[in-house]
Amino acid sequence: MHFFQYRDNTLHSEDVSVGAIAREVETPFYLYSYGTMERHYRVFDSAFQSVPHLVCYSLKANSNSALVRIFGRLGGGADVVSGGELFRALKAGIPPSKIVFSGVGKSAQEIEYALEKNILMFNVESSQELSAINDRARQMGVRARIGLRINPDVDPKTHPHISTGLRENKFGIEFGEALSAFNLAKSLKNLDVIGIDCHIGSQLIEVEPFVEALKRLKKLVRTLKQEGIEIRYMDLGGGLGITYQHEAPPHPTEYAQAILQETNDLDVALIFEPGRVIVGNAGILVTRVLYIKRSSQKFFVIVDAGMNDLIRPPLYGSFQAILPVVRRKGKEIVADVVGPICESSDFFAKSRTMIEPKAQDLLAIMSAGAYGFVMSSNYNSRPRVCEVLVKGKTVSVIRERETYDDLIRGEKIPEFLK
Ligand code: LLP
Repeated sequence: MHFFQYRDNTLHSEDVSVGAIAREVETPFYLYSYGTMERHYRVFDSAFQSVPHLVCYSLKANSNSALVRIFGRLGGGADVVSGGELFRALKAGIPPSKIVFSGVGKSAQEIEYALEKNILMFNVESSQELSAINDRARQMGVRARIGLRINPDVDPKTHPHISTGLRENKFGIEFGEALSAFNLAKSLKNLDVIGIDCHIGSQLIEVEPFVEALKRLKKLVRTLKQEGIEIRYMDLGGGLGITYQHEAPPHPTEYAQAILQETNDLDVALIFEPGRVIVGNAGILVTRVLYIKRSSQKFFVIVDAGMNDLIRPPLYGSFQAILPVVRRKGKEIVADVVGPICESSDFFAKSRTMIEPKAQDLLAIMSAGAYGFVMSSNYNSRPRVCEVLVKGKTVSVIRERETYDDLIRGEKIPEFLK
């Protein structure tokens, strides 16, 4: 459920017409609905209200400071995967005691930064990383709280690029190696082993793979207990999918029910790292039609946003709904919706049936709140677009559009070229 609805055939975000914002900030731009984010966060969080738990919003889905602040205010923590995300989470006011640090390749510098800030837990992905964290903690005279990310070898049945819990994936510690890794962790003097973690993939539209992974983790928790290792936190990662087109992912309450059924006999606090399910359908990318071109083969709707602004369709073959900002009757065409970038992979939709738009019309590329702006780039020297947040009638620019000067900021001309 989201707050992007038509009123009098004009698309609105909450109480503001999308067209009015476009006149104000120009196109393209990302537009987020505060109410949608708040609702998604609350629905997810309250689904687990009967047990001790922490929702660590996964910054990688959308790390704009204003958005992270929203989830912090609602009581959320943060899942970070880099020093940069840790910096953002702290700046947005997330308490370190609610931050978990995941990722296969944490650098020495990132480990030190997180230790300095005394975050809740590192989700560790290899034995070498255990030693690296232990060494750094010893040098700093502190103890590091850690959990081990286990690769449960469960097929999440999602796109191969976003599967992470199969044995062939680079993520986590192989299930068969888990016990020895936990024992190694226990033997390292500057580590406190407090957690177990898994994340099997993203955009999951069935509950079974989650339950399957959880069952495997549960087994391990029992064995660990026998070995004298008490697990206090079970981090089940993120991954709950959303509807882009016809998918029918489990509702968060359904997902919670399935999980709670499996964990009621465990004495652990649960951690979740949702990203997409919170912000995915809370954001759209608004773009303007520049030209309509008709070749002998098909129609091309050429818009002013490009794959540098939203790369999901070419990268994952993902479907993004595209809606007219002003809905009207007209001829139906089958068109490719493409951007201005010099690559054939610069498209938002292929062979899409739509009412023929006119040049200067606005289009809304839906479900773009997660993995949209954060994956954008300056390819073709295109300034990154601005981001706007709507709350009721209030419109706030939460990131300015980049300028041409921003494009060359930090570049230097060597002496011999001056
Ligand atoms: N935790 C970990 C350890 C993760 O690797 C991820 C996502 C999440 C949490 C959040 O997952 P979510 O709830 O958003 O599914 N760029 C791709 C998605 C990559 C996801 C990477 N990891 C896309 O646009 O579909």
